[in-house]
Amino acid sequence: MIRRMGSGITPGAEDSAARAYDAIAPVYDEFTAHHDYELWLGNLLPALNHLGLQGTRLLDVGCGTGKSFLPMLDRGWAVTACDVSPAMLAIAQGKARTGARLFTADMRSLPALGDFDLVWALDDAVNYLLTAADLRLALASMGRNLAPRGLLVFDLNTLATYREFFAETSVVERNGTRMTWHGQARTDAVAGSICEAHFEVDGGTVPPHIHRQRHFPESEVRAGLRATRLECLAVFGHGEDAIFQEPLDEARHTKAIYVARAS
Ligand SMILES: C[S@@+](CC[C@H](N)C(=O)[O-])C[C@H]1O[C@@H](n2cnc3c(N)ncnc32)[C@H](O)[C@@H]1O
Repeated sequence: MIRRMGSGITPGAEDSAARAYDAIAPVYDEFTAHHDYELWLGNLLPALNHLGLQGTRLLDVGCGTGKSFLPMLDRGWAVTACDVSPAMLAIAQGKARTGARLFTADMRSLPALGDFDLVWALDDAVNYLLTAADLRLALASMGRNLAPRGLLVFDLNTLATYREFFAETSVVERNGTRMTWHGQARTDAVAGSICEAHFEVDGGTVPPHIHRQRHFPESEVRAGLRATRLECLAVFGHGEDAIFQEPLDEARHTKAIYVARAS
């Protein structure tokens, strides 16, 4: 069963992400079929173990269709998960078996869902927040659900991603479905930019819609963590190979990975 949690935050950004994901949900798994979670988590989890990860209670925020929590169910974790898009959650529900508790909720206004050893928001969820103030709301809200030594983990797109993937047209064809991502960003997008891509699918099964994201510079994220009493333990960068490196290089890595805990 999916439960609905209330939200008291700015409607604009919530609507924008929920609208985009409600629209893309039927083809999301096809469009992202090349995202290799075993490779990614195979590098992320050892890095988290090294930073003191203990326990097996996961809160997956912005869980989408479940790709970021299903591998954790397979590893024996107890999973609670939420997303702002009911259509994405409905697909996750179909895959979640009995192990996961699912909620419709916005990451900026999460209720007290429990004490979690790991709270994460993986693969682009946090980039849909469009202001530094919303980032702080989300960090505070996710932080409130951490167990005393629990870890908060999230990724953000780097400038390299906005200057390349968000500035290009990418076509993915799978099982006879042709999906087109029309990046609208500038190839010289600057730190803190809001970037858009228009998404469409041939055949009219998915309404054309916009994905709107913001780049968050490391200094702003670190300030947000400090303001919400979270201690930044590490900032990694990685590229398509998912090999975690420090320091983060905005011009070369495609993703930044932040790891924090309650201070
Ligand atoms: C690219 S998908 C990734 C989903 C999943 N974590 C995965 O790894 O496949 C990003 C997800 O973040 C969700 N999202 C965006 N903004 C959100 C918000 N403010 N609160 C909760 N979920 C949000 C979207 O609805 C979408 O399902």
